[in-house]
Amino acid sequence: MKQAVVFYSRDGSTKVFAQAIADKFDADVYELKEVTPIKGFMSAAWGAMSGKRSELTNDFADDMVDYDKIYAGTPVWGGKAVPAVNMFFDKAQIEGKQIVFFTVQGGKTNGKPISGAKRMVKDIEAKGAKTASAVSFTGGSKKKPASKQSANEQVKARL
Ligand SMILES: Cc1cc2nc3c(=O)[nH]c(=O)nc-3n(C[C@H](O)[C@H](O)[C@H](O)COP(=O)(O)O)c2cc1C
Repeated sequence: MKQAVVFYSRDGSTKVFAQAIADKFDADVYELKEVTPIKGFMSAAWGAMSGKRSELTNDFADDMVDYDKIYAGTPVWGGKAVPAVNMFFDKAQIEGKQIVFFTVQGGKTNGKPISGAKRMVKDIEAKGAKTASAVSFTGGSKKKPASKQSANEQVKARL
């Protein structure tokens, strides 16, 4: 089974989790980048909370065709997925694929999907995914992103 990890990370934590997942499942890694990176906390939070999409340098839609299972990761901004990841799901053809949606947040979590992720899972199912699930991880901050050890432990326990 071919597996990919696709993620956006502004401050580094989601990237650490993406790599931990890729290491565990021998998956290929794709990092989403915005054409115009969002600056400032308030505009970032507002963009996520209002469900915005952002233009990507590469949405990897063509690359995703080859994969059976995709782990898609987002930082949590105001309880929601970031605009780059919303755009990824707009573009990707996910019919028949297994999707694991992972969220990385500043606050502590026991791994259960956040409410914003539950809604995303419903949307992903509606787009024809074979299976869709969500998991949440405790990341870090801009000053102190998640450590490799913490990410490996959480991935081991929750995936
Ligand atoms: C604009 C913004 C909004 C955030 N909102 C939340 C939030 O609602 N809940 C939370 O637990 N953490 C929140 N955080 C913290 C991030 O989710 C956390 O730092 C995460 O590890 C960032 O991922 P990254 O390092 O991959 O960018 C927010 C951070 C930013 C920049």
